[in-house]
Amino acid sequence: MANLALLSLVLLRLFVVQAGGGGGGVDDGIGDDGSLFTACLAAAGVGNVTTRQSPAYAAALLVSVQNLRFAGAGAPKPAAVVVPASLQELRDSMRCARAAGLVLRLRSGGHSYEGLSYTTTTEEDDDRSSAFAVVDLAALDRVDVHVDADRRAGTAWVQSGATLGQTYHAVAAASGPALAFSAGSCPTVGSGGHIAGGGFGLLSRKFGLAADNVVDAVLVDAAGRVLSRAGMGEDVFWAIRGGGGGTWGAVYAWRVRLSAVPERVTAFVVNRPGSVRSVASLVSTWQHVAPWLPDEFYVSAFVGAALPELKKLNRTGISVTFKGLYLGPAHEALQILTARFPEIGLSDLDPREMSWIESVVFFSGLPEGSTVSDLTDRVLHQKNYFKAKSDYVRRPMTLDQLVRAIGLLSEQPKAYVILDPYGGAMDRVGSGDLPFPHRKGNIHGIQYLIEWTADDDDHKEEYMDWLRWFYDFMGEYVPKKPRTAYINYMDLDLGTNNWFGHRVGGDVDESPNPEVEAARAWGERYFLGNYDRLVRAKTLIDPENVFRNAQSIPPLGGAQGMTRSTRGISPKVTSNGSTHDS
Ligand SMILES: Cc1cc2nc3c(=O)[nH]c(=O)nc-3n(C[C@H](O)[C@H](O)[C@H](O)COP(=O)(O)OP(=O)(O)OC[C@H]3O[C@@H](n4cnc5c(N)ncnc54)[C@H](O)[C@@H]3O)c2cc1C
Ligand SMILES: *[C@@H]1O[C@H](CO)[C@@H](O)[C@H](O)[C@H]1NC(C)=O
Ligand SMILES: *[C@@H]1O[C@H](CO)[C@@H](O)[C@H](O)[C@H]1NC(C)=O
Ligand SMILES: *[C@@H]1O[C@H](CO)[C@@H](O)[C@H](O)[C@H]1NC(C)=O
Repeated sequence: MANLALLSLVLLRLFVVQAGGGGGGVDDGIGDDGSLFTACLAAAGVGNVTTRQSPAYAAALLVSVQNLRFAGAGAPKPAAVVVPASLQELRDSMRCARAAGLVLRLRSGGHSYEGLSYTTTTEEDDDRSSAFAVVDLAALDRVDVHVDADRRAGTAWVQSGATLGQTYHAVAAASGPALAFSAGSCPTVGSGGHIAGGGFGLLSRKFGLAADNVVDAVLVDAAGRVLSRAGMGEDVFWAIRGGGGGTWGAVYAWRVRLSAVPERVTAFVVNRPGSVRSVASLVSTWQHVAPWLPDEFYVSAFVGAALPELKKLNRTGISVTFKGLYLGPAHEALQILTARFPEIGLSDLDPREMSWIESVVFFSGLPEGSTVSDLTDRVLHQKNYFKAKSDYVRRPMTLDQLVRAIGLLSEQPKAYVILDPYGGAMDRVGSGDLPFPHRKGNIHGIQYLIEWTADDDDHKEEYMDWLRWFYDFMGEYVPKKPRTAYINYMDLDLGTNNWFGHRVGGDVDESPNPEVEAARAWGERYFLGNYDRLVRAKTLIDPENVFRNAQSIPPLGGAQGMTRSTRGISPKVTSNGSTHDS
């Protein structure tokens, strides 16, 4: 039975490769005269399918491409975009893609920093199986909220195509808003990819990551089985809550725990320009204060030479923007800051009281004048070209170190960093409780970003190299055994898989599996000691490596699906010649 299935897969693949005859559609699974994939979908009654030949193709593909770096001709494009409208259509889409020999790209909100939900990397180009289909979950966006009778607790079933904005909107509408969901700040981010990688936001010091609040899930695995928590087992249920998207199967829905928030919360955004030294001094104070504030208080710091708050005033130059959310009234927030962080400048801080859902709009990045209902808009209106990297910090830097780092930032206005305070609830989850290991002892994260527009896209290598160079410089000041990173701020510089064909029925049996050892180079940077458990979970749920991308966890065992390419998996060498510190 299994062998027959494999044989037909081999025959299909031979057909596909030969039928294309060298054109652009060589192995996209959609032959000139019809097609394995679309015929299979049509037979299954899956109707929302857009192929390359369709005039609607660009729109269907680009609608949620959120990093324009992967929108252009250089990025490999899918054979088709399928939008399943039900669980059954999701299963059929996955089954048909496999039958046609297409790699799957699941897309929820499309915010993958490296475009992994809608493109493949060049590394995979010499993989002849790299033809792929996007299964876009946008139509699976229902959020069913259950509020307990006393309105102090509740849960929600969130379909994995729902965005965070849609989720917050539904939770607030159903609860008053007495309840909130702890997850990221950008409303167009998809719950599918976000929760799969952890999900940090303004409530995380109080209620933990989005993934910490997942109590059940429905997963469709490679064989098309529909598995609840009990069905998938605790190892897999552990892995899907932070082990990264696109690796385990398709999450159809998450069941999340909601948290009680006060009727009024306090929010502020304040920008402080100045000399490099004065900005460094403020950041230094922030490093000693923000991680130890009460759990109810979140204050992040953005540092750069062209922050939007300053640009709005037609000014440039180095500055720091503090964004604060306090789960309580403004006078309490001010009392705490007066005692702990008067340097932030209280006279013009202008803390405003609002409901929690209004604070979501306040921090959403939506244009001035946006309202709570705008949170349901799936479209990100201001898209950028960008590259990002990340670090975790366990010890405050010295003032001199900050002066040096911020001095460099002051010279590159396209770059900025975001410092997110940890501590609080983040410290009270064990580093092995979920795949996301950056818990107690980490005082804050650093996200390094560089952004540009179409006008200067011809300088993109220069910009990305600048960011890599700055990241190398910062390596002196952060823990390096290993140097850690956050999977949701995916960074392919850390190294990539290089699947070389998925050998069907191959007989390679190398031990220890070289893929697993090579992927350890980046896997341990995202997951530390949780890496091996992730490999075991992967081997349980997807031994044939159907769900794979440039940084997905590989399964054990050589016979089930891949061999090592001659180039192997090579961490990209960074600008100063170092790869990963260990
Ligand atoms: C503007 C912006 C703001 C952000 N803000 C935050 C923030 O505040 N906090 C934070 O922690 N992160 C933040 N992120 C990072 C974000 O959490 C990750 O990029 C996340 O992976 C995006 O999820 P998505 O569904 O939008 O992306 P997608 O690109 O759709 O998916 C990301 C990955 O998950 C896979 N995937 C998607 N859906 C599923 C599914 N249902 N089942 C299995 N795999 C799936 C995809 O195949 C892909 O590999 C931000 C990113 C951007 C671009
Ligand atoms: C296909 O799905 C997209 C996203 O949900 C939707 O906007 C579009 O209208 C759908 N097309 C058809 C033909 O149903
Ligand atoms: C900034 O400059 C623009 C264009 O010159 C002008 O329209 C705007 O009013 C200025 N804003 C401020 C706050 O000075
Ligand atoms: C490269 O940078 C890393 C991190 O800053 C540092 O540890 C290493 O010594 C540097 N290597 C070289 C060759 O300069």
